[in-house]
Amino acid sequence: MSTDLPESTVSPPTESRFSPSRRGLMVTSTVVGGAVVAGGLFVAPDAVGDESATEAPSSQVSLIVNGERRTITIDNRTSLLDLLREHLGLTGSKKGCNAGACGACTVLVDGQRVNSCLTLAVRLEGADVTTVEGLTDGDELHPLQQAFIDEDAFQCGYCTPGQIMSGVGCIKEGHTGSEDEIREWMSGNICRCGCYVKIVRAVDQAAHRK
Ligand code: FES
Ligand code: FES
Repeated sequence: MSTDLPESTVSPPTESRFSPSRRGLMVTSTVVGGAVVAGGLFVAPDAVGDESATEAPSSQVSLIVNGERRTITIDNRTSLLDLLREHLGLTGSKKGCNAGACGACTVLVDGQRVNSCLTLAVRLEGADVTTVEGLTDGDELHPLQQAFIDEDAFQCGYCTPGQIMSGVGCIKEGHTGSEDEIREWMSGNICRCGCYVKIVRAVDQAAHRK
């Protein structure tokens, strides 16, 4: 088998490679006889059935989501975005990059806009979270939601919930003195459809109730 690594850096297979001291989960792309391999996750044979080796730490967290207290036990690694989408069924917040680069997952935490994909849910004990589902007042749309419709500020709509939540934050912060200022303070929200001109107009409309 060919390899790009210099010969001196390639370790020969040894018996100790999967010895009991190295048991547990290991990431691999190699199929090894007798091992369980699924989607790149390799479970060493002696770890199968050993629940203590695979059980992830979990915690209970209690927070307010759209005005309603929610208490839930989650894996400590769960992001706020996954808590909302996978555990609470609030799929308005979108998963774009899952890495803090697109803004599709933007929600408000204690009134501040955050990328929920980068926010650990277990750190939000007692926090007040608002998602796009929590913006309406009964059947009445939030002024910024209405402005997005009035200005036709979307195409596919995937970025729209994040744009609206970020716009709500932008207006609340007072960064709406000019279209340039809005553009600057909304720059963390990417629109692949290129609706930026209309998005800025919508934020401006809602900020100044034109
Ligand atoms: Fe969170 Fe892109 S999904 S920033
Ligand atoms: Fe399609 Fe923004 S409307 S990504």
